[in-house]
Amino acid sequence: MTGASPSRAAQPAPEGPDGCGVTLLVCSSCRREGDGPEVPRPGSRLADAVGAAAGCGVAVRRVACLGNCSRGLSAAVYRPGCWTYVFGGLDEASGGDLLAGARLFAGSSDGFMPWRGRPEALKRGLIARVPPIELLKDLP
Ligand code: FES
Repeated sequence: MTGASPSRAAQPAPEGPDGCGVTLLVCSSCRREGDGPEVPRPGSRLADAVGAAAGCGVAVRRVACLGNCSRGLSAAVYRPGCWTYVFGGLDEASGGDLLAGARLFAGSSDGFMPWRGRPEALKRGLIARVPPIELLKDLP
């Protein structure tokens, strides 16, 4: 994964839900392999930490499952008109990396989360990126 841009990048929209540029979707149900059934789960604690530190320009939403359950704590980063990124292999201390990645993404002008400057946890933990629907309209 190089983070190279395809030839047709989407034009990013300036704002998303709640007037925020970027929305972090954090799975609050995630737990590490071998964790017991205790609550709150590690994913819930990560969601709480990210939500408490988010601030202006980044909205945080808790989701029940991102379908990435076997790959550690999981989160996705969404920005209207841009690519959506899914990350796994996170831990309870990944909140700062998620917010740094979200802020980096918010400043992007080509619809991609820049590779340069992206926290290591978000390079290592990239599971998938999904193009914006606008990009698909012209494809066969
Ligand atoms: S429980 Fe977190 S991705 Fe499924």
